[in-house]
Formats: sequence, structure tokens, C-alpha cells
Amino acid sequence: MLGLESSCDDTAAAVLRRLPDGTIEVLAEAVAGQNAAHAPYGGVVPEIAARAHAEKIDSLARDVMVKAGVDPTQLDGVAATAGPGLIGGVMAALMTAKGLALGAGAPLIAVNHLEGHALSPRLTERLDFPYLLLLVSGGHTQLQIVEGVGQMTRLGSTIDDAAGEAFDKTAKVMGLGFPGGPAVERAATTASDPGRFALPRMLARDKSCDFSFAGLKTAARRAWEAIDAPNDQDRADLAAAVQSAIARHLGERTGRAMERFKDRFECLDARTVVVAGGVAANQAVRAALRAEADKHGFRWVAPPLKYCTDNAAMIALAGAERLALGQVDGLDAPARARWPLDEAAARAAPASGAGRKGPKA
Ligand code: KG4
Ligand code: ZN
Repeated sequence: MLGLESSCDDTAAAVLRRLPDGTIEVLAEAVAGQNAAHAPYGGVVPEIAARAHAEKIDSLARDVMVKAGVDPTQLDGVAATAGPGLIGGVMAALMTAKGLALGAGAPLIAVNHLEGHALSPRLTERLDFPYLLLLVSGGHTQLQIVEGVGQMTRLGSTIDDAAGEAFDKTAKVMGLGFPGGPAVERAATTASDPGRFALPRMLARDKSCDFSFAGLKTAARRAWEAIDAPNDQDRADLAAAVQSAIARHLGERTGRAMERFKDRFECLDARTVVVAGGVAANQAVRAALRAEADKHGFRWVAPPLKYCTDNAAMIALAGAERLALGQVDGLDAPARARWPLDEAAARAAPASGAGRKGPKA
């Protein structure tokens, strides 16, 4: 299976195969980031991203096929992210996949990017359904029960910003550069007084599994603006405060979701919580989630870092799992800016990024 990804700011291609015992062998993979192109703007610029994807995607696809020693006619299928994401970017991988599928005479599988993240731990682990998933990235923060391919139930979602956005925006305010998450994590290591800033506890009285980060983002900006001639120490202390507030919020909500999961699957003897998405690279976030997993009796699984952030192996895997179920798409499959994992829940309670066109996440 060839997988292609271009929904945000990473262009990626991968070829994998499933061995008879069910394990996955990634034969070749490549990711081309765009950080340098977006850094001057402090965030991803959709037009710049779309052009960069269009310039790179075909050569990346060729490179991984050559490296894997696979001829297009040997492919069982071609999978590409078809959404959700920046529409100009999504089109780059999807159109390339359509051309390759047509040329190779292989089926096209139009993959939901979020399903790719949801299945990503199955690239490297024997992991049975159902499991609890926390997806935390630059665009998404949500808790889902994953019962099978295409069978997701949303337990909670952000009501405003994604966790990654809170990292990125705080970093921008403090002049820490882009992408913000790793920069905030680095700055926090030199904090001398992590308790110095009193940041709000988000949704403290709310008993749902939803998230909120907008208030934290604003509080961090105000705290920063109140400092007279801020220096590196101020930067480090505020970075540590923001990071621990985000980690605590993610931990609390995921802990609550674990209890809901237990209620729903009472007779299950092994329970697993998976954390995926770029923010899952953060060590403070990982520690908070691991502590919650221990507390609630869950096994904790995080994909290796290269599969936490955007990659094409997870898209190829989702494609392979769908193909095995006979779910393939026509060459008229549309690119979708919005495409919730749990469509019913998203329609009933459009928590995240709800706009005129409905929920994003
Ligand atoms: O999954 P991803 O690569 O792309 C999507 O958004 O789909 O996630 C990118 C996000 C960015 O917001 C980035 O700042 C954040 O993940 N991130 C981190 C870290 N590494 C990446 N956030 C906190 N700590 C990190 N070490
Ligand atoms: Zn992603």
C-alpha cells in the first residue's frame, strides 16, 4: 500500500505491507517539513503550504517506491488523506494518488487524516479494538473510543482551540519561534520558578470530557504583556507554567474519559489508552497521561515520535485496513476541509471549531 499525506505542513509518502502474521512492515517512508517556509509568519500559511506540497509530493512518492523496490503495478492500493485539513494541501496528495491509482490500475482509498492518527499505534504494536484515544495536535484535541475502522465514538472535544494551538500561540507571543510546541518545551527546561504564574484551570466546574484552551492562551498573553522588559528567565517560567497547565488539563479530562470507557466496557480485562498527534511528543504531557493511566488501571501506549506527528505510514495503514474490509473509493472522492471522525456526535454537538459549515474536528 502506498500512502500519501499533505493535509497540513508536512508532505509525506510511505509504502508498507502487512505480513501474514498481521504485523506491519514499513518498506520506505519520507517526510518533507515546511517549517522554514512558515517560520517568518509564525504559523502555517495555507497558500505557501499548498504550493510546497504540490512541488514535493510526486517526487516523494517516486522516492519511496524506488526505495521500497516496488513497481506501481505491484501496489494493492493507493491511499491518500482526503481531509480534514487545508483544502489546497489536501488536494496535492489526493490528486497525485488518483493519478497513480488510475495509472497502476489499483484502487484508491480516501483516508480521514484523523483515522490515520487513531490507527497509528497499530503500526508498531499489537493493539486490539476497542481502545481509548486522545488525539492532540495543532488542529485537533479530542477523545474517541475506537471500536474498529470507521467506528469511533467521540467522548469529548475542544470547545475552542486545539492544545497544539495553545502551545504555538504562546510561543509566538513570547517570541519563541515556530513551531511553538517544541520551543515551549525547550524553554521550560530552564525555568527557575514554574509556580510563579497563576494560570486559570480550564472548565474547572464542567463535568464533561471536553477541553478548552482559549482562556489559557489569553491569560498567558496577558501575563507576558504585564512583564516589564521580559528576559529569558521570564520566558522559561511562563513556558513551564503554560506547559504544565496544558498537561494537567489533558490529564484530567483523559482520566475522566477512562472512567466512561470502563463503564461502557465493563467486562474487558485489558484496557488501553492511546495518545497520538504532535502534542504527544511533549514529555510533560506524556508524564501527566501516564500517571492518569496508572491511576485508572489502563495500559498506556504512544506511537514512536515519528508516528505521533504527521506521517504517511499511518495513512497507508488506514488504507490497508479499509482495503481489507473492501472499502475503496472512486476517483471522484472529494477533498474535504471538514470531516469529523464521529459524524453523528459532531452533528449533535458541534464542539470544536463550529462555524457556518459545521464542526471542523
Ligand atoms: O500532528 P501534528 O504534526 O500536525 C497536526 O496538527 O495535524 O501536530 C503539530 C502540533 C503543533 O501545534 C506543534 O507545536 C505540536 O504539535 N508539537 C508539540 C511538540 N511537538 C510538536 N507540542 C508540545 N510539545 C512538543 N514537543
Ligand atoms: Zn495530524
